[in-house]
Amino acid sequence: MATHVITGAGSGIGAAVARRLHERGDDIVLHARDAGRAKELAAAFPGAKTLVGDLSDPGKLSWALSHQSLPDRVDSLLHIAGVVDLGPVGDLTPKTWTNQLNVNLVAPAELTRLLLPQLRVAQGQVLFVNSGSGLNAHAGWAAYGASKHGLKALADALRQEEHANGVRVTSVYPGRTASPMQAKVHQQEGKAYDPAQWIDPESVATTILMALDLPRDAEVNDLTVRPGR
Ligand SMILES: NC(=O)c1ccc[n+]([C@@H]2O[C@H](COP(=O)([O-])OP(=O)(O)OC[C@H]3O[C@@H](n4cnc5c(N)ncnc54)[C@H](OP(=O)(O)O)[C@@H]3O)[C@@H](O)[C@H]2O)c1
Repeated sequence: MATHVITGAGSGIGAAVARRLHERGDDIVLHARDAGRAKELAAAFPGAKTLVGDLSDPGKLSWALSHQSLPDRVDSLLHIAGVVDLGPVGDLTPKTWTNQLNVNLVAPAELTRLLLPQLRVAQGQVLFVNSGSGLNAHAGWAAYGASKHGLKALADALRQEEHANGVRVTSVYPGRTASPMQAKVHQQEGKAYDPAQWIDPESVATTILMALDLPRDAEVNDLTVRPGR
């Protein structure tokens, strides 16, 4: 049975992906920011294992994981957690830059580094949930866009490095998706939020599962998903 390590499983896109994999009986290891959140996730997904570590402090992830039991093999590592804070460059402070770069870029790189041995054993797959902002940056989106452009670079380099080890690497670039993150974006943009206007997280989950379930003769490198309305 496949083992998936998932970040961001408590909300939005990550919760939809975790539900689908849990329902079909795969083993899921859910990453949580702290022990309290891990307890909530374990209750929501009976039988799931949890891993605790704050992605906003990637320098401590290695220490945190060294005190927890890791799976022997990892068939997929799904980087779905993320944060956004909009603002013009003229207003963005180093704290706002650093938090988004840490959670959206440095922590995925560090978690990947720490789980690469288990991914190689399984000839597994690393999947990064990126964003349209990882391909084009717009006014007000500098810090988030930079973190996601960096995430694209991380994925592209990792793919070349790990191909010989049989590890597949996929980036998914969703457009606006109805989730608590999108509600925050609307609030920061000063716009009314209507979730029905945006992609359902279940549809992004469907694309992610398609990339995971593709037979091993092929690899989805990059997948852009835009609102259909
Ligand atoms: N929504 C969109 O329109 C959209 C569009 C394109 C790309 N994306 C990307 O899709 C991914 C999922 O977004 P979403 O919309 O589902 O967001 P969301 O509903 O806000 O969920 C974000 C998840 O990230 C976790 N997280 C945030 N900071 C963390 C930290 N320091 N340590 C551990 N976990 C942390 C959250 O944990 P808690 O549950 O504990 O808060 C939550 O589970 C993100 O990478 C986002 O950039 C979203």
